[in-house]
Amino acid sequence: MKVLVIGQGGREHALCWKLRQSPSVTEVFCAPGNAGTALDAVNVDIQATDAARLVKFAKAEKIGLTVVGPEVPLVEGLVDIFLQEGLTTFGPTKKAAEIEGSKRFSKDLMRKAGIPTADYRVFQNPQEALVFLNERESERIVVKADGLAAGKGVTVCSTRDEARDAVKRILVDKEFGSAGTRIVMEERLEGQEISMLALVDGRTIVPLEAAQDHKPAYDGDTGPNTGGMGTYSPTPLMTSELADEVIQKVFIPTVHEMNREQRPFRGCLYAGLILTPQGPKVLEFNARFGDPETQPILMRLKSDLAESLLACAQGKLSEIAPLEWDPRPAVCVVMASEGYPGEYRKGKVIRGLDEAAQVADSKVFHAGTIRAGDQVLTDGGRVLGVTALGDTIQQAKLKAYQAVKCIRWDGAWCRKDISDKAMVVGG
Ligand code: AMP
Ligand code: GLY
Repeated sequence: MKVLVIGQGGREHALCWKLRQSPSVTEVFCAPGNAGTALDAVNVDIQATDAARLVKFAKAEKIGLTVVGPEVPLVEGLVDIFLQEGLTTFGPTKKAAEIEGSKRFSKDLMRKAGIPTADYRVFQNPQEALVFLNERESERIVVKADGLAAGKGVTVCSTRDEARDAVKRILVDKEFGSAGTRIVMEERLEGQEISMLALVDGRTIVPLEAAQDHKPAYDGDTGPNTGGMGTYSPTPLMTSELADEVIQKVFIPTVHEMNREQRPFRGCLYAGLILTPQGPKVLEFNARFGDPETQPILMRLKSDLAESLLACAQGKLSEIAPLEWDPRPAVCVVMASEGYPGEYRKGKVIRGLDEAAQVADSKVFHAGTIRAGDQVLTDGGRVLGVTALGDTIQQAKLKAYQAVKCIRWDGAWCRKDISDKAMVVGG
């Protein structure tokens, strides 16, 4: 079977790398891909949202399974178009992807289904939002743009002034355009965050091992929010009791509610959880694999990924054997461009990739990279996800950073404390 992965980030590199290991897979294509996917797959020069050309390519190559990575093509309905053309595709339809595409939709869904989440209100009118803010006792609040904003639409506020400013930026200044027609304002929760992902085919839920992301840019969880500066899996925070609770209280009711609303969810359902004193609550849903969660998760997956994703796409998840995992933890350290998550330059020459590849049990997943002749250049904010397995989290961390040390470019930086949260818990 030939497989097509759509997207160009670290998640897609990890998907290509793992799919290629499946005995049933003869060839993996990645559209448009990056310099890393060019090594583990065949890059196809078609953008992830160019549905017409993607369909044409998939038909010409007789692709047996297409896997859509990023949220934008999912929310735009790329999977619907592929399915209409009779192409077997992993990922939710446009109506199901709304669980990520609209925060208002996902909050309303959680309210209806009784899924634990922060209390919230939705506003379209800035004056009404400000009145609500003034009347609230607590100044601690979170302001979110309703639509997709590349991870930048959320402001976690400690003061009313910060919240007022966020309301103004979204509803008045239209910083996120039509993604900010509405805002969700919600209670600010405190606790450790965990990402729990599951393959879902509308009926059967197959959980993947949990991971912990590090969203703030700098060490000690300080600085601006990013797409994720590093991850590790598994996390000692996710005990088997907690995993059961999350399946019961979050995944099962979500899958049922999506069915009731005629939006059956088929694909990877990602619950962003926060562990509060009252138990786990959902911060957000994503309609796709997480980035960079996918990198350590797939590095640990021993089962055949193509078989699992195909079964999911065909509604046959109940027929696959339980997933098998490498018990060793994996740590992924994101190396970023100078200036990220603000403005940054592209086109810096990356050196040391061959040396890094020599570090045992490690894999450098590319994100924002591009090949130019025999050089690899930076081409994004998050550039590489340097991932390693170890007997303990400490050892995985050590190896990941050993590989990081081999790699250099002008302005390269990373957090130095990825996975330390696990040590605090006692991993
Ligand atoms: P989201 O895109 O909704 O997951 O929000 C991005 C990040 O903002 C989350 O990973 C949290 O760190 C933070 N966040 C979102 N909602 C809340 C909340 N209700 N309380 C505290 N932090 C939040
Ligand atoms: N790592 C966060 C996300 O994929 O949304």
